Amino acid sequence: MKINYVKLHNFRNHKDTLVEFDDGINTLTGQNGQGKTNVVEALVVASTTKSPRTSKEHDLINAFETSCFVEIEVQRNFGKVKIEYFIDKEQGKIFKINGNEIKKMSEVFGNLITVYFSPDELKIVSESPNERREFMDTDISQLSGSYYNLITRYNKVLFQRNKLLKTERNREMLMAQISVWNEQLAALAAPIIRTRKGFIEKLTGPAKQALKDLSKQTEELEIDYVGAKGTTVEELKKEILSALEYNLERDIELGYTSIGPHRDDIKFSLNGMDARNFASQGQQRSIVLALKIAEAEIFSAELGENPVLVLDDVFSELDTRRQKKLFEVVSSYQTIVTGTAFKFPKEQAYTNFRVASGIVKKMKK
Ligand SMILES: Nc1ncnc2c1ncn2[C@@H]1O[C@H](COP(=O)(O)OP(=O)(O)OP(=O)(O)O)[C@@H](O)[C@H]1O
Ligand SMILES: [Mg+2]
Repeated sequence: MKINYVKLHNFRNHKDTLVEFDDGINTLTGQNGQGKTNVVEALVVASTTKSPRTSKEHDLINAFETSCFVEIEVQRNFGKVKIEYFIDKEQGKIFKINGNEIKKMSEVFGNLITVYFSPDELKIVSESPNERREFMDTDISQLSGSYYNLITRYNKVLFQRNKLLKTERNREMLMAQISVWNEQLAALAAPIIRTRKGFIEKLTGPAKQALKDLSKQTEELEIDYVGAKGTTVEELKKEILSALEYNLERDIELGYTSIGPHRDDIKFSLNGMDARNFASQGQQRSIVLALKIAEAEIFSAELGENPVLVLDDVFSELDTRRQKKLFEVVSSYQTIVTGTAFKFPKEQAYTNFRVASGIVKKMKK
């Protein structure tokens, strides 16, 4: 797939911007603080409903305005898809797909499928489990809107169970109600974990290979899901249910649910050692790059068409070998890449856009 154009109106420092992308590599260049990342941020929101750099959607509205609007046209193999969103300080966020307002956020996923990579993505390896769950959930949701619905429903039930744990002081009342929530929670947890494990299994092969290519065959990557044991949904449900029962006293004390997919993690091991604690910064960066390359491959295989690669400020951080590898990968996708400047080989075809003070200009080749 490819993005034909993006229009931004009062989106961050873009008053009225139209960017008509070409196939292949599109570079957004300009000095710091001019609005390059803002453009790619608008694309990621259209793809995953969320900004990679803020959870406050009001931040996306120009500081002197009360609402903003983004329109994106995507060329799919079956035709064109128009994605629009409107964010208003009072009304919140509204999405439209092909002119129809959508009712569930899950319907946004699957229209524009992106692989997003920025230096900040290092957090997938280096930071808390929450970042790794977010990584899995966003990726899986791009392939399956029903997975996103499952997560939403799980979180609602979890909220109810936690509320009961926190507020019900009468033990008998608590005991009478908790088993219903345990049952519901386990029934939703099991397919979530099953799907995540399947995703990790698919990701591992291509990610291992990509890391080997990046590291001259020396680095052996393992990826494991850390959570309930079991393979089938039935096994997982049983496992979760008994863990909820086993941990009930602790949960009552804590006032929240201490086990389940909302606490699970992914473990990345490099040559047998936990990458979060033992891998160097450069090695961690390579793992994330390998994950992104693997992601692009899985998305292409599952969709039957390529995702769009959105790379914010990543080239300058990579050494020549890694730049070269990324470049090889990038050449088969529509890629939108930001940076202050690029030094591409002479024969490399690409389209450059200059970004200055929220104004984007396509440069003559
Ligand atoms: N809500 C907003 N309203 C107005 N301006 C904003 C808003 N949010 C961010 N900006 C402005 O956008 C600019 C930053 O844009 P962006 O992050 O896209 O820069 P960049 O070109 O990617 O820079 P760098 O090369 O440093 O990454 C800053 O000048 C900032 O003040
Ligand atoms: Mg930037």
